[in-house]
Amino acid sequence: MPVTILVGTQWGDEGKGKATDLLAARSDFVVRYQGGNNAGHTIVAGGYLLKLQLVPSGILYPHVTPVIADGVVVNPRVLLDEMQALGERGIDSSRLLISGNAHLVMPYHLELDKVTERYLGRASLGTTKRGIGPAYADKAARVGLRVQDLQDPKIFRAKLDLALKEKNAVLTKVYNRLPLDAAEIAEDYLEMGERIRSHIADTSAVLYRALREGKHVMLEGAQGTLLDLDHGTYPFVTSSSPVAGGALAGSGLGPKEVERVIGVTKAYVTRVGSGPFPTEDTGPAGTQMSEKGHERGTNTGRIRRCGWFDAVLLRYAARVNGLSELFVTKLDVLSGLGAVRMCVAYRYEGREYEDFPPHQSIVHKAEPVYEDLKGWAEELDGVTRFDHLPEAARSYLARIVEQVGVPIGHVSIGPDREQTLEVPAA
Ligand code: IMP
Repeated sequence: MPVTILVGTQWGDEGKGKATDLLAARSDFVVRYQGGNNAGHTIVAGGYLLKLQLVPSGILYPHVTPVIADGVVVNPRVLLDEMQALGERGIDSSRLLISGNAHLVMPYHLELDKVTERYLGRASLGTTKRGIGPAYADKAARVGLRVQDLQDPKIFRAKLDLALKEKNAVLTKVYNRLPLDAAEIAEDYLEMGERIRSHIADTSAVLYRALREGKHVMLEGAQGTLLDLDHGTYPFVTSSSPVAGGALAGSGLGPKEVERVIGVTKAYVTRVGSGPFPTEDTGPAGTQMSEKGHERGTNTGRIRRCGWFDAVLLRYAARVNGLSELFVTKLDVLSGLGAVRMCVAYRYEGREYEDFPPHQSIVHKAEPVYEDLKGWAEELDGVTRFDHLPEAARSYLARIVEQVGVPIGHVSIGPDREQTLEVPAA
C-alpha cells in the first residue's frame, strides 16, 4: 500500500509545498489531484525560491514523475509558462504527465470568474479569479473541454462552438461584456495542445501499474479541508475536493492502496478570501503571524487573515480525511509571543461545541473558547533536533496532539528543506 495522501487541514496555505517536497524524496510519483492554478506552492531549495501553481512540487527531484491527474483543471498557458520557467532554471519537466481527462480552463472561465465576483458585490467569495469555479461548473454540467480534446481539432472546435454559444450570450446579455471569438481560442489552444501532446497520458493506468511494481505514490492536495466543496465552509470554498477522498477520485485510484494520510497544519491559522474564521486575530498577535510568517498569497499576492490554532477545525479535518499523522509548519512564527492561545471549543448561545458545528450560522457567529499556554521567546530557526526545541514549544505541540488525537510526524521551523524536524514516536 505505498500511497501517501498529503492534505491541507485548514483553509489552504498550510505549507504543503514544503511537506510534499520533503516527502517527494521518498516517492516515485507526485500527483496533483484537484484544483488548478488557484494553488501556489513556494519551495525553497538550493538557495532559490520557486513558485509553482500547476506542476507538482516533486518536479525538483529527477527520480520523481510529476503527474497532473484527472481531477485537476488545467490552464495550458499557465502550465507552459511554468514549464518554461523551470527549464530556465535547468529543471527538466519532460517527465511531467497530464491526464487526458483533466478539464481545461478556458478564456471564458476567467472572464466569468471576474464578472460573477463583481456581480456578487459584498457577497463575493474572494476567489482567485483564475476561472476555477466556472471550469468545474462546466465539468459538472457536462459542457467542459478536456485535455484529450486538444488532440482532436474537429471535436475541440465542435465542443468549443457549443460552449461558446451559451457563454457569449451570458457575457454579452447578462454582463454587458464583449463576445469571445471561437476561431481565435481554437487556434491558441490547439497550438498549446501540440506543445503538451507528449505529456498527455492515461495517468490512472500509469499509477496503477507503478503501484503493482511496488513504487511509491504521493497524492498532493491543493487548498485545504475547509475549502472543500462538500466539507468546507460553503459557499466560501473552492470548487473541487481537496480532502483525502477527493485524492482518490481525482487520481483514479482505490482506497485499498493508501497507507498514510498526512495532514499539513500551520501552528496557527490563516485564510484568504471571505468567509467565517472563528479564531481570527486582528490584534498584535495576528500582526506578528502575518508579518513574521510572510502571510501573503503566493498566487494572488493578497494578505492572508491570521489567527490562533483551532483544535475544533483540526479535529474535524482529522475526521473527514482520516488523518494518520500531522505535519506542523511555521512553529517558528510563534516565537516571541508572550503567551500562545489554542481554541479548544466554540461557544454559541450558551452551548459549547467541541466538534465542528453542523450548521453554518453557528460557525459564523461562534466565539472561540481558548486555552492560554506558555509562550517561548527563543527563535527556532537554528534548532536541528526536536528535543532541542524550547520546552514550551514542545508542550504546545503535545497539546495539539492531545486535542486532535493524531500524532505529529514532522515540525517545520523555517522555509529551508533542512529546517524540518522529525518527531520521535511517543
Ligand atoms: P477559487 O478557488 O479561485 O474559486 O476561490 C475560492 C476560495 O478558495 C477563495 O476564498 C480563495 O481565496 C480560496 N483559495 C483558492 N485557492 C487557494 C489556495 O491555494 N490557498 C488558499 N486559499 C485558496
